[in-house]
Amino acid sequence: MTGAPDGGRYGEAVFRPEQAGEDRRIDLGALTYDDVTMARLRALGVGPGWRCLDVGAGTGTVSGRLLDEAGVRSVLAVDRDVRFLAGRPGLDVLEADITAPDLVPGRFRLVHARFVLMHLPEHERVISELAELVAPGGVLVLGDAVDLTSDRTPDTPYTTVMRAMWQGLRATIGTDVSWVPSYPQLLRGAGLGSVAAEIHVPPLLPGSPVSRFWADTWERSRAAMLGTGLVDDAAVDAAIRYLASEECAALSAGMLTAWGWKPGEGASP
Ligand SMILES: C[S@@+](CC[C@H](N)C(=O)[O-])C[C@H]1O[C@@H](n2cnc3c(N)ncnc32)[C@H](O)[C@@H]1O
Repeated sequence: MTGAPDGGRYGEAVFRPEQAGEDRRIDLGALTYDDVTMARLRALGVGPGWRCLDVGAGTGTVSGRLLDEAGVRSVLAVDRDVRFLAGRPGLDVLEADITAPDLVPGRFRLVHARFVLMHLPEHERVISELAELVAPGGVLVLGDAVDLTSDRTPDTPYTTVMRAMWQGLRATIGTDVSWVPSYPQLLRGAGLGSVAAEIHVPPLLPGSPVSRFWADTWERSRAAMLGTGLVDDAAVDAAIRYLASEECAALSAGMLTAWGWKPGEGASP
């Protein structure tokens, strides 16, 4: 496990919350994945009476749906920057860096984090700490990106820029998705049982939320991508046009969701 060479963190050189439209970018990801996340959480039994923790809650779409649709008792939404998290009944908001120890009080029947740990070089330690926050019989659910642009994927404007993005984010803010397929073993290693995982790959259709999400993400990480030397401005522009065109024929990165249960009364299945 290595961090960014310059020690940079999410929200600093890239994905700054104060940059106009960052909430819209997060919402495009939420539009793409929230239904899948909610279906999984409901299938795991999340519902009335549950105390929930949503780590790196972003614009709070999952937190809100836990309250409104699943009818949970409460959600504590934690983020390093809480400007996009509006207060509402049942929602508590805590501004905190999740890599700092002992910040989150209490135990929760659900601990959830999506598209957060892939940005944290210390993800293994954080997984163990999040597992500690799960009450006996509760569940830890973690989701992150899986990169499907392997060396065998044909070179297109899309794959070239996607590879430059992952490399550039790794160099600037320490993002690393290479370990994400290890989630089941990492959850088991954190003492959780009945561990399982699934992957959802949203179709890259012109104008779809996920295509717009990648175009916006590339604009925001353009400097990091150029810094890799793998692409220039023209290549990034070409990939953005390709994404929006009927020519586009590619696989989006997917979302791997993994979960594991804390032993104790009521643990499922
Ligand atoms: C890509 S967004 C995902 C937002 C939300 N979980 C979702 O899936 O829609 C990543 C979120 O994690 C937060 N974050 C990143 N590093 C963090 C840290 N060290 N502590 C707390 N939050 C962090 C960011 O501020 C941002 O809101």
